[in-house]
Amino acid sequence: MYTSLQDTTTLQNGVKMPVFGLGVYKMEGAEAKESVRHALDEGYRAIDTASMYKNEKEVGEAIKECKVPREDLFVTTKVWNSDQGYEETLAAFNKSLNALGLDYLDLYLIHWPVKGKYKETWKAMEKLYQDGKVKAIGVCNFQPHHLEDLMQDAKVMPMVNQVELHPLLSQKKVRDYCEKHHIKVIAWSPLARGLVLDHPTLKEIAEKHGKSTAQIVLRWELQNNVVVIPKSSNKERIITNSEVFDFELSAEEMQAIDRMNKNERTGPDPDNVNF
Ligand SMILES: NC(=O)c1ccc[n+]([C@@H]2O[C@H](COP(=O)([O-])OP(=O)(O)OC[C@H]3O[C@@H](n4cnc5c(N)ncnc54)[C@H](OP(=O)(O)O)[C@@H]3O)[C@@H](O)[C@H]2O)c1
Repeated sequence: MYTSLQDTTTLQNGVKMPVFGLGVYKMEGAEAKESVRHALDEGYRAIDTASMYKNEKEVGEAIKECKVPREDLFVTTKVWNSDQGYEETLAAFNKSLNALGLDYLDLYLIHWPVKGKYKETWKAMEKLYQDGKVKAIGVCNFQPHHLEDLMQDAKVMPMVNQVELHPLLSQKKVRDYCEKHHIKVIAWSPLARGLVLDHPTLKEIAEKHGKSTAQIVLRWELQNNVVVIPKSSNKERIITNSEVFDFELSAEEMQAIDRMNKNERTGPDPDNVNF
């Protein structure tokens, strides 16, 4: 099992992706810059942004100013729904890359499975990958049926599926499907945006380990072979969230958290994307 914040998992094409990163959704520009700088100084190596978050420029500034060599960082961004389609995606990629001030990306993702569009979008993702502009490509919020459909025509298989995942939405079916197809799962809203942190089961386990409930949740995800990208713009929480590599949950504790699942989303349902 993982023992450090810099530990990686290997994607189906051999690329190494850190198992822990910082999410920057809902961070204003200056806040994003400061949080990313702080996280990188504290040992984070992966940052998850999106064109929709409108902070790529500041994320890029923080990356430029930090002391970590570019090749040790893992930068992810995403193509937004209104930019989907072949030419549109190529243009959106260049815009994101320029905003970030980078000459390649580590991971580019389709943000949502926009009906009638995502296959054309995927062709552009394949082109970007084949041209060496991005080390790995993938999707977000794809249900198994979306993946099935995409993979029917794909030349390059998706390497990652980033989905909402936390103890109230354990995504067992998606995880099993992805594992079978060598697609790595990344949990977004891994803390259920904070909504799950007062749960008595988590409190009890947290007390036993002398950890916070947030740390317990993140550890449960890692032990389930899921990559995590919790968001925090609080300096202390950025550090404490990452202190999950010095303890292990038992099989019984893992199962107790598994039983919390209610298939309850905090975000939109991928089968009803109308934005
Ligand atoms: N692909 C997609 O469709 C998609 C969708 C949503 C999100 N994402 C990505 O996933 C990342 C994480 O998801 P998220 O931001 O929605 O939710 P999250 O990481 O589950 O939760 C973030 C919220 O929890 C708070 N928080 C963080 N650590 C905490 C702790 N230790 N104790 C108590 N509260 C804590 C944060 O506040 P403070 O900042 O004040 O700490 C923030 O309000 C995003 O930032 C984004 O990069 C992707």
